[in-house]
Amino acid sequence: MASPIVDAEYLKEVEKAKRDLRALISSKNCAPIMLRLAWHDAGTYDEVTKTGGPNGSIRHEVEFMHDANKGLKIAIDLCEGVKDRHPKITYADLYQLAGVVAVEVTGGPTIDFVPGRKDSMVSPEEGRLPDAKQGPPHLREVFYRMGLSDKDIVALSGGHTLGRAHRERSGFEGPWTAEPLKFDNSYFVELLKGDSEGRLKLPTDKALVEDQEFRKYVELYAKDEEAFFEDYAESHKKLSELGFTQPSSCIQEAVRKGAVLAQVAVGVAVAGTVVILSYFYEINRKHA
Ligand code: HEM
Repeated sequence: MASPIVDAEYLKEVEKAKRDLRALISSKNCAPIMLRLAWHDAGTYDEVTKTGGPNGSIRHEVEFMHDANKGLKIAIDLCEGVKDRHPKITYADLYQLAGVVAVEVTGGPTIDFVPGRKDSMVSPEEGRLPDAKQGPPHLREVFYRMGLSDKDIVALSGGHTLGRAHRERSGFEGPWTAEPLKFDNSYFVELLKGDSEGRLKLPTDKALVEDQEFRKYVELYAKDEEAFFEDYAESHKKLSELGFTQPSSCIQEAVRKGAVLAQVAVGVAVAGTVVILSYFYEINRKHA
């Protein structure tokens, strides 16, 4: 499918959709599942074949029926209401916008959002998302395939500060933190505490404290929430833009805005010169 034309009108729709998403996510308390939807649409990216990634393909039944995506139809349906009101916006942009808004409304960092993603009609094969029952080599295999780093793996796993597992979806049960609707660094604090009653730790979560490279980021983020927010925002932006290059229409729009500003500046300068010249003319006339 072709890239959307990101002109002033598209940007306006994005702003309106953002407001709708804020209201929807706050009223339905669905930030966790919206973030998971954005991550599962993007997390199929393969840097070598340039397939998968944040392209809205998770909306297709063949993909949302993958085992790893159990439960995500709920988030897809919630987004459909927003899509109905803003049909111009691609699914790919909408799902990533929902992820960004989910983090923002639960108190997390602001993530820079650049629109213009294409929708894809093609879904990747099953098995590209991480398997929660595995350890560090598997995590690296999956995230390196996307072109992401150890730091990205740990920072992004901090997404588990939100939400919980549901036995009927994944076979796991319970929340990672005491306040699953608040985006903070408590996921890392809990990881360092070890097993505790009523708190979930997937084998892939435990892998982050077992592996020394991963652990140094866990320790940093547990004691410094600012550092976590900064790295999370950077890694989340990377995840949301895998395989995506900003369409030239976006750049054209920025150039157009720049040109309008330049015209306004010239207008102001000309008007100023006219005022000064008429002032001197008046003075000269009085003295003549
Ligand atoms: C590192 C590898 C990862 C694994 C193996 C993994 C696995 C899982 C599993 C098994 C669940 C429970 C699903 C359910 O039963 O409802 C879950 C939930 C969740 N995951 Fe992950 N995840 C990973 C990374 C991420 C990342 C990178 C993010 C976001 C940046 C994320 C965000 C979430 C959220 C927000 C939930 C809660 C969903 C809800 O409450 O409905 N996960 N994840």
